[in-house]
Amino acid sequence: MEKQRSSFTGKIGFVLAAAGSAVGLGNLWRFPYLAAKDGGGLFLLVYIILALTFGFTLMTTEIAIGRRTRHSCIKSYGDVNKKFGFLGPIASIIPILIFPYYCVIGGWVTKYMATYIIGKGTEAVADGYFTGFITSFQSPIIWFLVFMGISAIIVFCGVEKGIEKLSKVLMPALCVIIVAIAIFSLTLKDDASGRTAMDGLKIYLIPNFDGMTFGKICRIVLDAMTQMFYSMSLAMGIMITYGSYSKRDTDLVSSVNQIEIFDTAIAILAGLIIIPTVFTFQGAEGLESAGPGLLFISLPQIFVKMGVIGNVVGALFFVLVLFAALTSSISLMEANVSVIMDNFKIERKVASVISVVIALLIGLAVCLGYNIWYFDYKLPNGSVGQILDILDYFTNNLLMPIVALLTCVLIGWVVGPKYVTDEVKLNGEKFGREGIYKVMVKWVAPILLALILVSSFGVFNNL
Ligand code: PHE
Repeated sequence: MEKQRSSFTGKIGFVLAAAGSAVGLGNLWRFPYLAAKDGGGLFLLVYIILALTFGFTLMTTEIAIGRRTRHSCIKSYGDVNKKFGFLGPIASIIPILIFPYYCVIGGWVTKYMATYIIGKGTEAVADGYFTGFITSFQSPIIWFLVFMGISAIIVFCGVEKGIEKLSKVLMPALCVIIVAIAIFSLTLKDDASGRTAMDGLKIYLIPNFDGMTFGKICRIVLDAMTQMFYSMSLAMGIMITYGSYSKRDTDLVSSVNQIEIFDTAIAILAGLIIIPTVFTFQGAEGLESAGPGLLFISLPQIFVKMGVIGNVVGALFFVLVLFAALTSSISLMEANVSVIMDNFKIERKVASVISVVIALLIGLAVCLGYNIWYFDYKLPNGSVGQILDILDYFTNNLLMPIVALLTCVLIGWVVGPKYVTDEVKLNGEKFGREGIYKVMVKWVAPILLALILVSSFGVFNNL
């Protein structure tokens, strides 16, 4: 007889764990810099509309598949329809590849947090500090091991005693910290230039149509779409796995709503901290040039301008980022462990060890990718990157859109949306957006996903 599957104790545990997965570096680092680049208010508006339609459709689908089949993604697709069983292994590869490099970045965050906590935040501002750190040999590897070690201990403890317990503490703590920093950052003012955070807030919240061209709007929609997809941890088996741990009497629609609201609210709050702060101290140019270096290069420069208090704000900020990254990384590792357990019928502890060993090997390669294995590789979407970027491209730009697209085809056309809507309404719940769901899963979502896939080949780069 199959051993009873682990499960979350109730709806709150499930929602906080899933929100923990969704809220991560994507919210705190990627969302604000895209919003800054794409003109603030307009990006925000497009993002919210997409989250309520596209995001809601994909998340409902994955959680329903998990809850109905009670398997992780390696088996669940085959349970829905035998012919689609091949999707299981493809989806399972994604978190195996993402987990190691997510831990490498998690290690960078841990290092920055430690630097601020011991009061040495000002050192992080030195020219070339970040590059010097990631290209060194030992340090990134040590911090990677620390971060991965913490994630592994939690997953080792199991769904209820590890993941649920931790999420119930970290997620509320994260909310308190982010609201506190947001309130503080809105009071900022730069005496030298006279700029205030409130002016920055206007840029962030009010859509600006000046100089908008059709091409630019397409770019914004595409950015918002890929961001939402990543931010909600979709198409990598995580929501299927977590769905399979949720109790069948949990209200699925309201859970999805809460996870989505949580994820979007944290992203918006992160923008509320970063955009007005960057604008106050670096002006509009600061926002325009904001890029991937925002978190590790621009923000420390700003903390230092705040004087003594900057070190405290910096420390709190990196604690926040660490909490968010940790709850995401455990969801990635749990997806891996769950796949190994389901596939090889072995117990959690052995599966956890196997998962850590694989991550160790790939993670080391990622760290060395900035050192002895450094090379510039040109990706099909036009950008240049190292091992981390190659893994990121292969998963986010290729595998994930393919898995999500085929999931929509499976549900929308092969077994029919009823497969999901029946599960949603299992306990007599009302499914308010059922009409939207059906149209989305059959038509709109596959088209949007195909566009993401095509854009991965750089087709829209000149927009
Ligand atoms: N959703 C997470 C974020 O916003 C990213 C993530 C991706 C988490 C993949 C888990 C898995 O950062």
